[in-house]
Amino acid sequence: MEFQFILVEANYQPNIALVRLNRPKELNALNLQLMLEMKEALAQLDANEEVRCIIITGNEQAFAAGADIKQMESKTAIDLLKIDQFETWDQIRKTKKPIIAAVSGFALGGGCELAMTCDMIIAAESAKFGQPEIKLGIMPGAGGTQRLTKAVGKAMAMEMVLTGKFIGAEEAKNIGLVNRVVPDEVYLDEAVKLAKEIAQMSPVAVRLAKESVLKAFDSGLQEGLYFERKNFYMCFASEDQKEGMNAFIEKRKPVFKGN
Ligand code: CAA
Repeated sequence: MEFQFILVEANYQPNIALVRLNRPKELNALNLQLMLEMKEALAQLDANEEVRCIIITGNEQAFAAGADIKQMESKTAIDLLKIDQFETWDQIRKTKKPIIAAVSGFALGGGCELAMTCDMIIAAESAKFGQPEIKLGIMPGAGGTQRLTKAVGKAMAMEMVLTGKFIGAEEAKNIGLVNRVVPDEVYLDEAVKLAKEIAQMSPVAVRLAKESVLKAFDSGLQEGLYFERKNFYMCFASEDQKEGMNAFIEKRKPVFKGN
């Protein structure tokens, strides 16, 4: 697969791979193709025995300013259901090797969610985090309500998700969203330093330890029920639901069209 929107260096440093988001004019907005490329790149790096730690970064101005609003704008609920873009994100989350997000500039919406999907975050002083989806009349969809709440607790997550406010790197550090804040000039070097430390450990132990820490995030019954409920409501955005229920009432066979 040719990568159009990311740059991948499997041997950026010994045992350390770098994936750079590369849509600078759009502040690295995450379109569907970029996320497919990210999934593919991470799968390749996961299978590469030389790689022991992966760094994902953007540029000085933006890690990523969110999912691509221009690509999403005209979509319907059923379009999104069919595209099933978050399945790509689930695959990224399954990467076995540790991933460090090196964040400078904007990490907003899907950008903040991508950083949180990584295992650790090194933030430049200029970094700005936020879940501004509410200002677009939507809500986070790539794990923001879950991962942010688990990282920073209910009060701050609720405020960020309901107001869409941005927070700076220092505040992100204070509330537990990032590992550390470093001067802008060295954010990538600091991520490399952390990656090198981890790369010295047993890859097997690192893999199992990562898996075990992530296990602490797995859902309980209540979350599963909530997930089911939302999907149940989503069905009512479809014409098929109306057709199915009307057909029952009219005592005829339904004709489902997948809309
Ligand atoms: N999608 C598509 N294009 C985007 C984008 C996005 N998320 N963010 C920025 N861009 C584009 C802008 O449209 C602009 O393109 P043009 O030059 O063609 O107009 C270019 O990138 C530069 O952006 P700005 O001119 O807006 O730059 P700025 O410095 O004035 O503002 C910003 C920067 C505050 C980050 C602003 O761009 C912004 O608010 N972006 C949107 C942030 C956002 O709402 N993200 C959430 C998206 S929804 C989501 O992510 C859902 C999910 O959970 C998966």
